[in-house]
Amino acid sequence: MSEQRKFKIAIIPGDGIGTEVIQEGQRVLEHIAELSGGKLSFEFDSFPWGCEYYMKHGRMMAADGLEQLKGYDAIYFGAVGWKDVPDHISLWGLRLAITQGFDQWANIRPVRFLPGVESKLNHPNVQSLDWILIRENSEGEYAGFGGRNFNGRGPGKEVAVQSSVFTEEGCQRIIRYAFEIARTRKRKKVTSATKSNAQQYGMVLWDEVFARVSKEYPDVETEQWLVDAMAARFVLKPETLEVVVGSNLIADILSDLGSALAGSLGIAASANLNPEGRFPSMFEPVHGSAPDIAGQGIANPIGTIASGALMLKHFGLLKEAELVERAIEETTRQGNLTIDLGGTCNTREITDAILANLDKLVAKVHG
Ligand code: NAI
Ligand code: MG
Repeated sequence: MSEQRKFKIAIIPGDGIGTEVIQEGQRVLEHIAELSGGKLSFEFDSFPWGCEYYMKHGRMMAADGLEQLKGYDAIYFGAVGWKDVPDHISLWGLRLAITQGFDQWANIRPVRFLPGVESKLNHPNVQSLDWILIRENSEGEYAGFGGRNFNGRGPGKEVAVQSSVFTEEGCQRIIRYAFEIARTRKRKKVTSATKSNAQQYGMVLWDEVFARVSKEYPDVETEQWLVDAMAARFVLKPETLEVVVGSNLIADILSDLGSALAGSLGIAASANLNPEGRFPSMFEPVHGSAPDIAGQGIANPIGTIASGALMLKHFGLLKEAELVERAIEETTRQGNLTIDLGGTCNTREITDAILANLDKLVAKVHG
């Protein structure tokens, strides 16, 4: 008899549509456990951290929040940000506190066309798209170094300094990670997005590390592009890309562009990994709390559910992860689409369809 596998998952719904989509992600994971016939189980604990918590307690998460999360196998995160709290407070107080505190230095963001979803790229040569964006997630432009001062000099005289931090170690580990991923893929190609013409210290170091690491992978094709030209290339020649690696800010921006090209921000998944396993990794949709549609039950849950599939992969549950990805594809292929994708389904209906497709796919395997 095979052993039973049990995973402890910390849920942080956060704010706005974060709370709406994360419960759908949880439903899918619970269903996967049910379908395993007792071989798999997930234990969920939910943490009420976010902007509402901040309004009551003056902080985004409990003082010992990281300590509380440490023992979990993974964190499943919705989104943070709400109007009463400045965005930099909410992001730094929760999401960035976790990604940095747990050294989740690799942010993986796949970009894929889904069947039945009309891509914003009306491109005759491009029927399918399958990229992975690899984002440095621990330093660079989001290192958090800097300050503001000179307010006392009078109105209009304040000065702000925001320093980027690029370490050789930080560049090396993320670039090597991108090469390792590229090796598992068909095309075996890594494109580095940089801006070393203008950022002559940090990004030149990044480029040098990229050149050095690429020598260790003679089987992988490489290229280096400036990010401004790269943004245009995402739209004009998307078929020429496969694995794209970039710094924290660069890859953050490119990933929203990529997911919009694939149809909507609402379908984009992401994993914040601590690859050494010293700390739990965190899985979350790419999008934010979307205050403009929050509370209406119409947010697209696919980005969150697909992030759950990335979590399953991280646990080594490859078959289960593939099942979820196929159920998502079936669901959009059948025309079940939320409003952001031009459909009329609400959040819950999409998950219902995904659960039904999971049942069908499993029945097919057993039948
Ligand atoms: P956003 O991603 O929340 O929304 C951008 C646009 O995309 C909105 O029109 C929204 O309705 C739409 N959208 C996003 N997700 C969707 C979904 N699942 N289904 C359908 N439509 C969707 O970005 P925005 O408006 O710049 O930021 C809103 C708040 O979220 C801010 O407080 C920001 O700081 C925060 N934020 C948090 C992130 C996180 O927690 N990881 C990431 C990005 C933003
Ligand atoms: Mg972003």
